[in-house]
Amino acid sequence: MEKDIPYIAIFASGTGSNAVKIISHFRENNIEANFCILSNKKDAPVLQKAAELNIETFSFGRKDFAENDTVLNYLKEKNIKLIVLAGFLWLVPKNLVENYPEKIINIHPALLPNYGGKGMYGMKVHTAVVDNKEKASGITIHFVDEHYDHGKHILQKSFDVLPDDTPEMVAKKVQQLEHKYFPQVVENLYLQ
Ligand code: GAR
Repeated sequence: MEKDIPYIAIFASGTGSNAVKIISHFRENNIEANFCILSNKKDAPVLQKAAELNIETFSFGRKDFAENDTVLNYLKEKNIKLIVLAGFLWLVPKNLVENYPEKIINIHPALLPNYGGKGMYGMKVHTAVVDNKEKASGITIHFVDEHYDHGKHILQKSFDVLPDDTPEMVAKKVQQLEHKYFPQVVENLYLQ
C-alpha cells in the first residue's frame, strides 16, 4: 500500500456488511484510499471478508485498546484520515478520542438519542423499538466522543415502523438505510 494515500481505519466486530459496502463503494467509484480493519474479535466474520478483499487487519484485546497505547500506536504508524466504527461495541477510550478529534464516526441502528447507550446494539435495539410500539426508527451517523452514542450528529434517516413489523423486519429496513447512506457519508468526510 502506498504511504501517502490516507487511510480509513474501520473498527468492526460483527458480520462486516457495512465495512464491505464502504470499501466496495470506494473501489467502484475509483476513490483512492487505503483501508485497514480492526476488530476486538479474532473470529469475527468481518476479518474473513477483509481477507477476501485484500485488506489488512489488526485484532486486539481490551487491554491493548483501553489500558495501553497498542491500538493507538498501530494507527499512528499510518496516515489516518478517518476512523469508522461499523458494528463496534466498545467505548472508545480517551487516548483515541483526543488524538483523532472529529475524525471518528459511528453508525447506530436507531434514532439517537433514543435507543442508544451501553448494551444497546443490533437486535436489542430493534426489539425495544417494536416492544415500545414506536412509529418510526432509523439510523444515526455521528462523531464519536468519550460517551456511548453521544457525539454530534452527522446524518439521521428514518422509516416508518408498521404495526405488524417484527424486530427482524425493522433490522432489514435499518440495514437498507445503512448501506444506502453510510458509504456516501464516509466518502464526503474522507474527501473534505
Ligand atoms: C449495524 O447495524 C450497526 O448500526 C450496528 O451494528 C451493525 C453492524 O452490522 N451498530 C451498533 O449497534 C452500535 N451500537 P454489520 O457488521 O453488518 O456492518
